[in-house]
Amino acid sequence: MTLWAGRFNSSMDSTIWDLSESYSFDHVLYAHDIAGSRAHVEVLVDAELVSRDEGDRLLLTLDDVEAEFDRGVFVRKPEDEDIHMAIERRVSELAGDVGAKLHTARSRNDQVATTLRLFTRDALAEVARRALELGDALSDLGSRNPDAYMPGYTHLQRAQPVLLSHHLNAHVWSLLRDVDRLLDARERLDVSPLGAGALAGTSLPIDPSVSAGLLGFHETFANSMDAVSDRDFVAEALFDIALLGVHLSRMGEELVLWTSAEFNFATLGDAFTTGSSMLPQKKNSDVAELARGKCGRLVGNLTGLLVTLKGLPLSYNRDLQEDKEPLFDSVHQVLLVLAALAGAYRSTTFNGDVARSAADDDFLVAIDIAERLVDEGVPFRRAHELVGRLVGRAVETNVAFRDLVAGDAAYERFADLFTPGASLARRRSPGAAGPEAAGAQQVRLDERRRELRARL
Ligand code: ARG
Repeated sequence: MTLWAGRFNSSMDSTIWDLSESYSFDHVLYAHDIAGSRAHVEVLVDAELVSRDEGDRLLLTLDDVEAEFDRGVFVRKPEDEDIHMAIERRVSELAGDVGAKLHTARSRNDQVATTLRLFTRDALAEVARRALELGDALSDLGSRNPDAYMPGYTHLQRAQPVLLSHHLNAHVWSLLRDVDRLLDARERLDVSPLGAGALAGTSLPIDPSVSAGLLGFHETFANSMDAVSDRDFVAEALFDIALLGVHLSRMGEELVLWTSAEFNFATLGDAFTTGSSMLPQKKNSDVAELARGKCGRLVGNLTGLLVTLKGLPLSYNRDLQEDKEPLFDSVHQVLLVLAALAGAYRSTTFNGDVARSAADDDFLVAIDIAERLVDEGVPFRRAHELVGRLVGRAVETNVAFRDLVAGDAAYERFADLFTPGASLARRRSPGAAGPEAAGAQQVRLDERRRELRARL
């Protein structure tokens, strides 16, 4: 029998049950739901709707039910539609008559909104923490190879030499923005909906700020209808995770390229690669491909929820139950990728010789010649054209660019620019890719990391 059986003459059709039950996926919310119930008990005691003794009995029973879940011995009954009803049903069984008072002045609508906010608050912190750890792993790869440099690319064409650490830190900055966003979302969701009831509050003398305070929420809802129907916080969490996923997919794609024989810039540790069922020589970067591939479902989860929310009339609608699976999936998947990628970067050997010789490509010096001409007073457009012609001549005549420069009286004074690493060293403007600018960036990076960690 369901908890609402009083109103109905026949039991629910099994197809409707299968369609509407959510215990199969929302049971993971048990601890957050019980935390919400504990706070609600204090609201009831405060309002003298249950006595202190009754309240204590409910609290002890909630502890017992939580222990059953923790130990994996909680038994779902056929009538438990979702985690909230399962817990209430079990409390009633164990606590006796007082169990029937637990749901006083509460609806599943404010209960589920509260539970999900508590879950999301923890989940976002965990994702943020893991994203910071991945950022550390990226920076550590740079620190392990302090002098390594490589071609920086635009259009995936070699453009200018960059320090490896500079390149990796570009990814780190994107992760730090992700963390900032995750923590912003966490602050915005820090509003307790508990006490909103089904949609309009209650005639009973409750003070919702009591549970809000106990649950560590920064604020209590101001509008009961908004409280039960707002899922902005889920959409925001899904967006933040999706964008993080987009960043992870870019790192994944890059690792796929770097570990190919064509690039050969990096080698993943064996523990982070997979073999082939047929080809004995294969060492595949599946970790990187999955980091790239998981992004699809993260974006899909966001899109799905936005479409679910679109056009919903106020206030609670059962459609909102569809908020959970995408959220659980996105959190779970992104944590898997963050942990695996962090390990993969920690296992990575950067093949500095290969990357360096690619970066010492003669043509990457073209801009340095043009900029030296600028130093000598030639307008940049003119310098660009002159050097462009020189590059064209090298390509047409198949003469090495450096030989052409060294052999041309008009340019031979620039031959020193071809010294390996010379071009990299010249990239010294603020935020640039060369070693001289790296220190200032490091200071800012350390400071930003400290700020974000302090918010966790
Ligand atoms: N499992 C439901 C959900 O996740 C609980 C709320 C049901 N509320 C209701 N009025 N039927 O949304």
